[in-house]
Amino acid sequence: MNDPRHLSAAKARLAAEGGPTEAQAREPVAGTRPIRSFVLRAGRMGSGQVRALAELGPRFVLPFWSTPLDPAAVFGRSAPLVIEIGFGMGDATAQIAAARPDTDFIGCEVHAPGIGALLQRIDERGLTNLRIVQHDAVEVLEHMLVPASLAGIHIFFPDPWHKKKHHKRRLIQPAFVAELVTRLAPGGMLHCATDWQPYAEQMLAVLGAEPGLVNTAEAYAPKPDYRPLTKFEQRGLRLGHGVWDLVFARR
Ligand SMILES: C[S@@+](CC[C@H](N)C(=O)[O-])C[C@H]1O[C@@H](n2cnc3c(N)ncnc32)[C@H](O)[C@@H]1O
Repeated sequence: MNDPRHLSAAKARLAAEGGPTEAQAREPVAGTRPIRSFVLRAGRMGSGQVRALAELGPRFVLPFWSTPLDPAAVFGRSAPLVIEIGFGMGDATAQIAAARPDTDFIGCEVHAPGIGALLQRIDERGLTNLRIVQHDAVEVLEHMLVPASLAGIHIFFPDPWHKKKHHKRRLIQPAFVAELVTRLAPGGMLHCATDWQPYAEQMLAVLGAEPGLVNTAEAYAPKPDYRPLTKFEQRGLRLGHGVWDLVFARR
């Protein structure tokens, strides 16, 4: 993904589609990062993933920009936009995008094999309503998405960061949730799920205390039909974990 040839191709493609031009593009923004919610792992890419990246990356992977994205230019239409943070290998992401063709999706992930895997799913299903950004979603949200532009945000099984000294790495914290809320349109949905009970409790407390959100359920929500089992969730279920969904709407 850091192959400069790939980035150039992606930029050229975006420019052709009416996205930011080369002149508007910036290098990734340096600066303070409020949350570092991931560790970059070296992951081996399968040959199919490598091929998907080379062949489909220029069309479906959007480079990180420090300027706001124009979703209508990227997708060639005006449609509700949902962002997913941390899609892992992307199986659930592709299933959701296939089941909801009238909605556009942007998946953010930092783990390279997951990018290749989701590109394969996009190809198999012939999806046109899904794009990928391989970058820290915290920065994507801040720089690429304008306020009140999202119909939904999906955060499925974010890293639970079990140790107390790592809790500051958890995504669901008051300041980041306040930032998420600014990007949601009124009525837009924030849907989180976790298989780690202490994190579920933190999510319920943080989301419940955010004045811009209202819970759609009494506490935890029933799993919405559109969310398939994710890969990480299946692993948790095998280990005997429970699963908690939280679905909040922006006021
Ligand atoms: C525990 S996995 C869950 C993956 C997937 N949602 C699932 O349920 O199978 C969390 C994923 O979030 C990604 N991630 C964590 N923080 C991120 C961030 N700030 N931006 C983008 N991806 C992130 C990690 O790389 C990892 O793949």
